[in-house]
Amino acid sequence: MRKIKQDDYVLFFYNDSKKWLMKAAPKQQFHTHVGIIDHKKVIGKPFGSAIKTNKGKIIFALEPTIYDFVMKSQRSTQIVYPKDLGYIAARIGLQSGQKIVEIGTGSGSFTTFLASILKPKGHVYTYDVDENFMAIARKNIEKAGMSKYVTMTKLDLKTAKKMPQKDVDVVIVDLGDPWVVVPQARKMLKGSGAFVAICPTMNQLEKLAAALRQNDFFDIECTEQIVRTIEARDGKTRHSFRAIGHTTYVAFARKVITPASLRKILAPVVEQPEIESEETESSEDESLSSLKK
Ligand SMILES: C[S@@+](CC[C@H](N)C(=O)[O-])C[C@H]1O[C@@H](n2cnc3c(N)ncnc32)[C@H](O)[C@@H]1O
Repeated sequence: MRKIKQDDYVLFFYNDSKKWLMKAAPKQQFHTHVGIIDHKKVIGKPFGSAIKTNKGKIIFALEPTIYDFVMKSQRSTQIVYPKDLGYIAARIGLQSGQKIVEIGTGSGSFTTFLASILKPKGHVYTYDVDENFMAIARKNIEKAGMSKYVTMTKLDLKTAKKMPQKDVDVVIVDLGDPWVVVPQARKMLKGSGAFVAICPTMNQLEKLAAALRQNDFFDIECTEQIVRTIEARDGKTRHSFRAIGHTTYVAFARKVITPASLRKILAPVVEQPEIESEETESSEDESLSSLKK
């Protein structure tokens, strides 16, 4: 059983909305509304141990997971939430050893999650244009112990002449205008590699899907992940009053390589507006009359 050592990160857990992620330090006495959390009490104890505050409240000293690091990351930008991360991981087949490009590091929360799964042999190459955001992301990634698996570079891929990576398994885009970097993503991806974009609005999805089709991507899918929390209590189990509202839509696609001769076959069928012909009118009438009978 792993015991808590000085400088280990510990999640001090009172309840779901009151929890603190901190490094265990023997001199630290952390003041909260439920009393003082004395770090001395947890050092040397196994993760999961309960301790009592000076106000008699019970706190559990939990070993933090990547979920805790993501949710407790310092946020300089909107982040991608675990409910969306989970579906994306499944959809792209995220696994150890993969090489991933991320455009739009933001607070580094998505980067942290990706690195935690593709380590130790895989790598995330993440790009941003804002040094202030990058500095915060660097701290968040380091705090979660993922720095070794991440290379962060200041680079605007919208205007970059040469692509910094090639043959990557996945390109992830979290920009306001993801459709702009679809050709760049294509250049970096290996054949059948996955493209994912975080799109908080449907308008973004529309423009993005059009760009994906134009750039020979297939298996295009747009989703919204809805998670509802259930409060399970004897005889009164129900949905929680607190709910996560809208986070984002997620667009997914795969790079395919279709020769021009075959692309014609795939050309989207333009839907024609329905023209009311006498034939359709009469067949409608017939079906209506058969219903009425
Ligand atoms: C919404 S945030 C990304 C949040 C990130 N996915 C997370 O989970 O923490 C969008 C980021 O894209 C960056 N950005 C904007 N334009 C960019 C560009 N042309 N190239 C790279 N990054 C860009 C912004 O500076 C910002 O940090």
